[in-house]
Amino acid sequence: MQFPDYRPRRMRRKPGLRRMIRENRLSLDGLVYPLFVVPGQGVEKPIPSMPGQFNYSIDRVVDAASEAYDLGIPAVLLFGVPEHKDAVGSDTWNEQGIVQRAVRAVKKAVPELVVIADACFCEYTDHGHCGVMVEGELDNDASLENLARASVTYADAGVDIVAPSGMLDGFVGAVREALDESGHSSCAVMAYSAKYASAYYGPFRDAVDSAPQEGDRSTYQMDPANAREALREVTLDIAEGADIIMVKPALAYMDIIRMVADEVDLPVAAYNVSGEYSMLKAAAERGWVDYDRVVMETLTGLRRAGAEILITYHAKEVARALGRAGQ
Ligand code: PBG
Ligand code: ZN
Repeated sequence: MQFPDYRPRRMRRKPGLRRMIRENRLSLDGLVYPLFVVPGQGVEKPIPSMPGQFNYSIDRVVDAASEAYDLGIPAVLLFGVPEHKDAVGSDTWNEQGIVQRAVRAVKKAVPELVVIADACFCEYTDHGHCGVMVEGELDNDASLENLARASVTYADAGVDIVAPSGMLDGFVGAVREALDESGHSSCAVMAYSAKYASAYYGPFRDAVDSAPQEGDRSTYQMDPANAREALREVTLDIAEGADIIMVKPALAYMDIIRMVADEVDLPVAAYNVSGEYSMLKAAAERGWVDYDRVVMETLTGLRRAGAEILITYHAKEVARALGRAGQ
């Protein structure tokens, strides 16, 4: 049928009709809320480049995680800022490290909340790179050993999912093997499979003080110009035992999300990163966009692109909005 017999606007006339033919829905189910843990007590320090987000001490991150849980958000993703940084980031595998202690505290307070630990070194190394540096280069295999040790301490602390984020070759296999050998075969791995060397991470690096002192991350994170290479990375991570495949950042990489969702049968996560969050906040502060609407539109777009799991700093706002809408 063609116009004038067929008229698509017929099904857009009323809210009820639009609801009936809606293809994608945002729901609470896939939301993951990232949280930043810092040393101290009673700390809830606003992150200037990420309005509405905070650095929390362990006691406060428990409250933040409980609030997320009460809003219906199923999972949190923990990042840590350690007391002590060194050349190899040894606090990542400290049983009493900041994230390990935070995981225990959150699990005790809200056992049903899914807890994910981001496993990387950039917050823990004095040079800010995602592993061990040898003569100015990231030593892949030495870093893998440390990553394996760190993953076991996160699993010992009780995480449900370890999320290695350093884009090292073989990182998923190293984590999977270490978890299995230490009796943690039920702990899952969310792979930062297609993580691009992106300027959209800027605000995050302020939040956790993880910017590289020298150079950038383009020898390990992917070139933003590449698409097929993402599939190669994803294929490797699946072979190494990933349970969830992530694409990061999200908005400039929606084609990658769609391609990965079409190609693989694992759940796909999109990381709506700090710069994406802060741009909306900045535009809203100037009154240039209707903030609530652009947030929902952005995240619905990620769903439409094929992501089941949405890692986003907007998680609490979305949960409140969905609650108001009675979903
Ligand atoms: C650490 C890590 C980064 C992010 C998540 N894990 C930063 C980076 O790679 O520099 C970015 C998160 C965000 O921007 O919201 N490797
Ligand atoms: Zn890193």
